[in-house]
Amino acid sequence: MKAIIRTGDGGPEVLKLGDAPDPIPGPTQLLINVKATALNRADTLQRQGLYPQPPGESEILGLEIAGQVEAMGTEVQSFKPGDRVFGLVGGGGYAEQAVIDYRMGIPIPEGWSFEQAAAVAEVFFTANETLFTLGGLRAGETVLIHAGGSGVGTAGTQMAHQAGARVFITAGSAEKIEQSKQLGCTEGINYKEHDFATEVMRLTDGKGVDVVQDFIGEPYLERNLSILKTRGRLVCVGLMGGAVAEINLGQIMRKRLQIFGSVMRPQSLEEKIGITQRFVDRWLPLLKEGKIHPIIDCVMPLSQAREAHEYMEANQNFGKIILKVD
Ligand SMILES: NC(=O)c1ccc[n+]([C@@H]2O[C@H](COP(=O)([O-])OP(=O)(O)OC[C@H]3O[C@@H](n4cnc5c(N)ncnc54)[C@H](OP(=O)(O)O)[C@@H]3O)[C@@H](O)[C@H]2O)c1
Repeated sequence: MKAIIRTGDGGPEVLKLGDAPDPIPGPTQLLINVKATALNRADTLQRQGLYPQPPGESEILGLEIAGQVEAMGTEVQSFKPGDRVFGLVGGGGYAEQAVIDYRMGIPIPEGWSFEQAAAVAEVFFTANETLFTLGGLRAGETVLIHAGGSGVGTAGTQMAHQAGARVFITAGSAEKIEQSKQLGCTEGINYKEHDFATEVMRLTDGKGVDVVQDFIGEPYLERNLSILKTRGRLVCVGLMGGAVAEINLGQIMRKRLQIFGSVMRPQSLEEKIGITQRFVDRWLPLLKEGKIHPIIDCVMPLSQAREAHEYMEANQNFGKIILKVD
């Protein structure tokens, strides 16, 4: 099959369209003819050799797929060849074919394109697990979502708004803030022009927020803790600014704060089936009803994976970058 091959560790130029062995489905797996996949920030790290695939997963990039069932293992239930399916994979998405455990395959709702379906799994699953399962965000609470224009941020903003929370986001441009407001955030803070912690305290009359969803890490840690209310929760989801930080434990004790962290990819199959099911139960109905949407910045052919990575690393995208597989 055709796939995007990594010719070494490095910049986007190491990504080339080439040939790879066809994947063979295991007993509980579906073999999918991939029609669309999507970029995730983790792909850029894997490309550089900084985020290797977990044992047993394909070394081909790509953490989510949408396509049609071509074949299946002997223990698969409730799917048949030709079914349209999307879902999360541990690797292998940037290719003409990929495998997915049938318990993680979600039937693509009527009327959705493959591109729409490919934009859902990674960001809606991540936002659900971090804002709600870990962060415990509830109606009436206030949340700060950093990187509001990221794929995960655009999903989380809509979900938090639907859940009845007041949503603030940070982003690096006025355009991204305006777009985030269309998704339900009440205030956006341009972190390049303002100190986000000062702004959050001003916007909340000094009260602060209940939950912070953070993707930046080290440079934001102290300020994230400082804006949390008593019993506030910080959820660490990404490390785009650095991983190693000093921490003042005093305010964690004083304010009875909780700090959570999560990475989906290394979790066990059973855990990922649970993650999939929680998304299907709570959020798929709202997606089907059109109350929340996958936000797609652009669609490029698979052969332009290099250009797609360059675009993501220039922080140009608002929402998902989709790769279409012809
Ligand atoms: N833990 C998990 O399971 C999990 C799963 C999925 C994703 N993630 C993480 O979630 C984050 C978002 O992923 P994604 O694929 O949705 O990202 P994305 O679409 O590439 O968006 C990332 C955005 O973050 C902003 N940004 C980048 N570097 C920054 C910095 N140093 N300081 C402040 N803002 C910065 C940029 O927007 P601006 O224009 O606003 O600067 C950029 O467009 C990543 O850290 C990723 O690793 C974690």
